[in-house]
Amino acid sequence: MDLSDLDLDAAVAAITAATEAGELADLRKRLVGKGSPAFRTRESIKTLDAADRPVVGKAVTDFTKAVEAALEVRAGELGPAAPTEPPLDLTLGTHGRGRGHLHLVTQCQRELEDVFVSLGYRVAEGPEVEDDWHNFEALNFPPGHPARAMQDTLYVDLGDPEQVLLRTHTSPVQIRLMESQPPPIYAVMPGRTYRNETVDARHSAVFHQIEGLAVDRGLTFGDLAGTLETFTSAYFGKKVTSRLLPSFFPFTEPSAEFAITCVFCDAAGCRVCSQTGWIELGGCGMVDPNVFLAVGIDPEEYTGFAFGFGLERMPMLRYGVEPIKTFFDNDSRFLSRY
Ligand code: PHE
Repeated sequence: MDLSDLDLDAAVAAITAATEAGELADLRKRLVGKGSPAFRTRESIKTLDAADRPVVGKAVTDFTKAVEAALEVRAGELGPAAPTEPPLDLTLGTHGRGRGHLHLVTQCQRELEDVFVSLGYRVAEGPEVEDDWHNFEALNFPPGHPARAMQDTLYVDLGDPEQVLLRTHTSPVQIRLMESQPPPIYAVMPGRTYRNETVDARHSAVFHQIEGLAVDRGLTFGDLAGTLETFTSAYFGKKVTSRLLPSFFPFTEPSAEFAITCVFCDAAGCRVCSQTGWIELGGCGMVDPNVFLAVGIDPEEYTGFAFGFGLERMPMLRYGVEPIKTFFDNDSRFLSRY
């Protein structure tokens, strides 16, 4: 075994002569790294006579330690390595934050308001905390109607039990309008609504509706159908058509559900429309005479129609947004997309 390869003096001389950190790293590799004389000597130990092994082992260890020590001393003398890349700029920006914009639901609300304003409607609003009279009673919900039950309605702990609640729909604004002005009335009423819903992809305990109400002499179901067709094609485009199916609401008679041809498959049938070709948007109907009586409008003189639907539903269908909670998460990646 030739230990003369481990020339400590030469090694230390080379280390002392180094002028930068990069050179020291090279020297460490050459002197004690893989393939270096020290490395090869250590590898050869297992082939030696047992008597020689400790001697050679100690020599290699001493050499390696001395080289490491010399490297450390020289590194200390040279100071920290010059950065090869510019340092990260961690200062927080105070400029260019980008401008905010309206939430997608608000954009949709404004767009629909514009459609109805162009048809001669005005925009009205009502309170989100309602009383039983406006949310149910005046709308002809009989006592004990399932919609009044705890599982749907979120009651507010105020006044008599179950008399103050978070409105379950925007229909109470119809009552407030008819109480406050005589016909003719043409109004849309957008706003936030609340239900004690089990949250899933399309249901949320907080959501928005937009309500419509027209009260005048001689209004017919045909006017209702034409109005709905006008607004759905204004929002979704001309290729969409709407249809009405018989339904029930306490405050309209007759009542209907209105649906549009599926925007995803052009009515051919797909997963979104459950293969039916149709997507339900909301409820509608002719104002029930009992509702007119509750607010003091003569049902012999006036007729009216009303409709209401979920606002989130519209952009969900137009842009394929799902689940509905995406609207309320306030994730800026979603918000900035629209
Ligand atoms: N308020 C009803 C609902 O929330 C929708 C509706 C409004 C139905 C107006 C008929 C007329 O389901």
